Amino acid sequence: MQQGPGTTRVAVAGATGRMGRLASRIVEETDGFELVASLGSSSELDEMVGADLLVEFTLPQVSPRLVEFAVDHGIRVLVGTSGWSSERVESLRSRVDKASGGVLIVPNFSIGSVIASSISAMAARYFDSIEIVEAHHAGKIDSPSGTAVRTAELIGAARSELGPVAAPHADQRARGQQVASIPIHSLRLQGVHAKQDVLFGGTGEVLTISHETLAPTAYEAGIRIALQAARTTRGVSVGLDRLLDLRPAPVKDAGTSRPPGGETSGQAATATTP
Ligand SMILES: NC(=O)c1ccc[n+]([C@@H]2O[C@H](COP(=O)([O-])OP(=O)(O)OC[C@H]3O[C@@H](n4cnc5c(N)ncnc54)[C@H](OP(=O)(O)O)[C@@H]3O)[C@@H](O)[C@H]2O)c1
Repeated sequence: MQQGPGTTRVAVAGATGRMGRLASRIVEETDGFELVASLGSSSELDEMVGADLLVEFTLPQVSPRLVEFAVDHGIRVLVGTSGWSSERVESLRSRVDKASGGVLIVPNFSIGSVIASSISAMAARYFDSIEIVEAHHAGKIDSPSGTAVRTAELIGAARSELGPVAAPHADQRARGQQVASIPIHSLRLQGVHAKQDVLFGGTGEVLTISHETLAPTAYEAGIRIALQAARTTRGVSVGLDRLLDLRPAPVKDAGTSRPPGGETSGQAATATTP
């Protein structure tokens, strides 16, 4: 794309990978952005110097080093790599604030996945029994997925007044890894791209919120939205949800928002109505 006075100069880390190649193509196709550096595993970190924005899709164990280097050199960052738990995010905040920098971390660029996680957070107060099953292609080396961690953290935050979910026998390995008390079960299977089910067990019912990514093209719209936001982002923020207007459309004569039949659905005895 043409370079102009308002052009954002972009370095892509992980540019040889699946997501990095996709992000590089989008940067090249988008007015107002210019791809100035493509970093792989053998690149020197200072190859990104001179960029305004680092787009980062590497490995969970590599990502913090790249992000910190960018922040210290006045480069804003859009992070797509998995592994940014809430602890890792918190440890970055003071560094970013000190540098007056900006880091936008997006665990999942798929719009459908972001909506599924938000609906899961909405349902969280009505069920005490909640588990996540995520499946990814066999080449994904980290687990649980960043999306599953983000979903569990959103559910945990939505239930902050209710406390942990009921997760019996969670000390047994086959019961999954708990994040915000919610067991996450990770499958790594040939033939799958990315899939996540959030299961809510209630009294005589199970609600499943399911999302499947069928092809990497699912990430394109979210990457475009995030690129625009990342060029001016300040501080550290997480998630595409805050960039989308996820409020339900107003319904005429919708009446009360309380569930029918009483104060709550009756599944989580102490839940408050929204
Ligand atoms: N946020 C989302 O929506 C989303 C969606 C899908 C995936 N992801 C995440 O994005 C990340 C990348 O996924 P992918 O499928 O693109 O992986 P991939 O195809 O395996 O690519 C990994 C990239 O990281 C680079 N790399 C490896 N070691 C490095 C090092 N020490 N220093 C710098 N770069 C290094 C590789 O470079 P070489 O080729 O030189 O080895 C390659 O370019 C993963 O964490 C994945 O979970 C996020």
